[in-house]
Amino acid sequence: MATIALDPRLDKNTSNFISSEHRMLIDGKFVKAASGKTLPVYNPATGEVMAHVPEAEAVDVDRAARAARRAFDEGPWQRKITASQRGRLLWKLADLLESHLEEFAELESMDNGKPLAVARAADVPLAVDLFRYMGGWATKIMGQTFPISFPGEYLTYTLREPIGVVGQIIPWNFPLLMAAWKLGPALAAGNTVVLKLAEQTPLSGLRLAELIQEAGFPEGVVNVLTGYGEGAGAPLAAHDLVDKIAFTGSTEVGKLIVGAARGNLKKVTLELGGKSPAIVFPDADLDKAIAGTASAIFFNHGQCCCAGSRLLAHKDVYDRVVEGVSDIASKIRVGSGLDPETQMGPLVSEEQYQRVSGFIDSGLNEGAKATAGGRPAAEKGYFVHPTVLTHTKPEMKVIREEIFGPVVCAMPFNDDDIDRIAREANDTIYGLAASVWTSNLSIANKMAKRLKSGTVWINCHNVFDAALPFGGYKQSGWGREMGGDVFNSYTEVKAVTTAL
Ligand code: NAI
Ligand code: MG
Repeated sequence: MATIALDPRLDKNTSNFISSEHRMLIDGKFVKAASGKTLPVYNPATGEVMAHVPEAEAVDVDRAARAARRAFDEGPWQRKITASQRGRLLWKLADLLESHLEEFAELESMDNGKPLAVARAADVPLAVDLFRYMGGWATKIMGQTFPISFPGEYLTYTLREPIGVVGQIIPWNFPLLMAAWKLGPALAAGNTVVLKLAEQTPLSGLRLAELIQEAGFPEGVVNVLTGYGEGAGAPLAAHDLVDKIAFTGSTEVGKLIVGAARGNLKKVTLELGGKSPAIVFPDADLDKAIAGTASAIFFNHGQCCCAGSRLLAHKDVYDRVVEGVSDIASKIRVGSGLDPETQMGPLVSEEQYQRVSGFIDSGLNEGAKATAGGRPAAEKGYFVHPTVLTHTKPEMKVIREEIFGPVVCAMPFNDDDIDRIAREANDTIYGLAASVWTSNLSIANKMAKRLKSGTVWINCHNVFDAALPFGGYKQSGWGREMGGDVFNSYTEVKAVTTAL
């Protein structure tokens, strides 16, 4: 394959990896797609193709699912490798990842477009931490005993066992971190995995697959595929040898996954879209609320399922909040993720660029006004200026649908009634996250109780930790990721009763 000239600022190891001939991990070996087909990987800062990766199709998914099945049913993973050894494998992986922090930060920046500094400070360390945290759980997944009242004398207990073969499908907004969120708990609980990476951002996951091999996971325990959603994701979700599917992505595809899982009634968990409100009360520390609500939407270019995309501010402070957030938006330096001056990189793909620009146009056509951004961006690369829309109405498309870009819709509320404010905030099909900005603890916690969302942040937004469960109410998904709660969806519970 012809070598593509990559950015000279990149470390040589990173450039070499990007330009290398990429293979997927199936059954402990790095292989091409059976068809030999590949798919192009674009640099979002330039729109140029920078690599090709295998294009897995049903036949490759089948090979990977069979390998994972064998590794679960027949390999050493289940019976010979102890919980403590599983934990240590995850810790080894965490150590390896940490020792390649800079390389992974560069891969993530090149592939997704995010600033290198962000990948270095957030994506990679959070992934390391996740593997470490989940490694600790491997020895702590326990059942219970029960004082049953059935006539006679019994000893009853539950076992928590791995589900089996887990298929995992991830998106492109935090490629490495999403891989860690998925792999960590599945492996800690003793499952085997077929992971399909996002077609837009496969590089860090393929490099992680090399570290997984280096850490010493037995063959077939982790299989990593690259391919498109319909070509590789759909056959994985439908595969009869797969016992559970865990998906992160759009609500639209989440519904397709549920349909695909019907054949063998595999277990399903879904982490889907959001339209999260950031609610500013008049007694909030406004400097903090302005900086915080701006970062709630502009962090990772708004490409976060929990982005604070609806800014609801009390009428007494609305003008100041909008002015403050717009001011921050217009000063954000947009550029290549590798440029140290850059605060916001390009969107991930041409498709997302068109989508997000289309939302901005639709808002403006329906009567919204842009107090920041809203302009077309550079002629090359998928850049969108951070945008603040005012004069938005509840029925507008920009308010109803997930934009997944650096676009916030501001709306004032004229109310002091907590229930009515909560109703307005809850007026969405989604329920992933919300933030409340106030100095009144009582208001904050009353709102926390009334908001229908899996996460409520008080005077903060986008605070994540491996110990904290994350997931959605309503159409934001099924189940929780991270924390101890994640094991509810990576284990089966078996009740064992002995007559004494
Ligand atoms: P998507 O939901 O199509 O893709 C996410 C993953 O699902 C990718 O790995 C993709 O290959 C796979 N996939 C796609 N179609 C599939 C199918 N039929 N069966 C199985 N797997 C399939 O998301 P896309 O197209 O990248 O982005 C569209 C919108 O989705 C975004 O604008 C955003 O609103 C939302 N989204 C939400 C995310 C979240 O974190 N909740 C992440 C990414 C996108
Ligand atoms: Mg899609």
